[in-house]
Amino acid sequence: MKELFGLEGQSALVVGGGYGSGRITAMLLKQAGARVAVADIDGDRARNVAEEFGAHAIVADVTTVEGANAAVDEAHDKLGGLTRLANIVGLVRMQPFIENDLALWQQQLQLNLIQQMLVCQAAGRHMLAEGGGVIAMTASVSGFYGARNNAAYGIAKAGVMSLARTLAEEWGPHGVRVNCIAPDITATPRLTEQMPGATEAEALARFDAMAAGEGVPLRRFGRTHELSGPLLFLLSDLSSYMTGQCLVVDGGTMVRFPHVTSADNARQP
Ligand SMILES: NC(=O)c1ccc[n+]([C@@H]2O[C@H](COP(=O)([O-])OP(=O)(O)OC[C@H]3O[C@@H](n4cnc5c(N)ncnc54)[C@H](O)[C@@H]3O)[C@@H](O)[C@H]2O)c1
Repeated sequence: MKELFGLEGQSALVVGGGYGSGRITAMLLKQAGARVAVADIDGDRARNVAEEFGAHAIVADVTTVEGANAAVDEAHDKLGGLTRLANIVGLVRMQPFIENDLALWQQQLQLNLIQQMLVCQAAGRHMLAEGGGVIAMTASVSGFYGARNNAAYGIAKAGVMSLARTLAEEWGPHGVRVNCIAPDITATPRLTEQMPGATEAEALARFDAMAAGEGVPLRRFGRTHELSGPLLFLLSDLSSYMTGQCLVVDGGTMVRFPHVTSADNARQP
């Protein structure tokens, strides 16, 4: 079991690793035995996480070619190789499609899709040259559904899933696996900190009440570590025969029969 789940001897980069699910992913990778680097646009965040878990901090904006290449190359140099990559960077900006302008589309595609392509390409150069590796990206259920008020985000996240499938085909023969996760609403610090005047416990309780009201089968929204756990699974040998896949992390929402009324919800035990 330890051999399958453990990452001793592996060198791992977490992009967006300075906060929330990136921070927890860095912690889990470290606990699994990997040498870890965290890259983040926010230098204080990257340095704090690096200090907390004994990782290497990299400050980079991965939405640029230069930033993505520099982050990956620095991780490769400092860790003595690069065999694992987790990329959690992404952010939604909600607005009805009719009000969108080109700048919003470009920003959303750059932050949610193109940076994943840039980072994958930079990491792939090392992994293909050095005998293999494993990549786990972060998509969203918005990439499956019609993404109301999130058109560009949904398109970008669907693109992340497509990228995983394409790289599985192109890089599988060379020992590189590429998968992604698709979370639904997850109460990461970014979301809980936006609830004015609420402690973390109160914010979580409000999120859970919302989830229950919406009929989420598990009757709550996800927690930060519930994004990191599936990422760790995808980066470990427990998933060694998986590539090109997207793991849905949504408390069961996608498999629900859609026409459930609140009366139906109330009747359930
Ligand atoms: N939280 C949710 O409800 C939810 C739902 C579905 C999908 N997701 C996806 O999960 C991922 C993680 O979400 P989260 O809420 O944990 O994120 P977060 O906002 O907590 O963390 C993102 C990290 O990325 C860093 N970052 C932002 N821009 C960057 C850049 N250009 N270069 C380098 N680093 C940058 C930020 O500083 C931050 O530390 C995202 O891809 C998001 O789209 C989240």
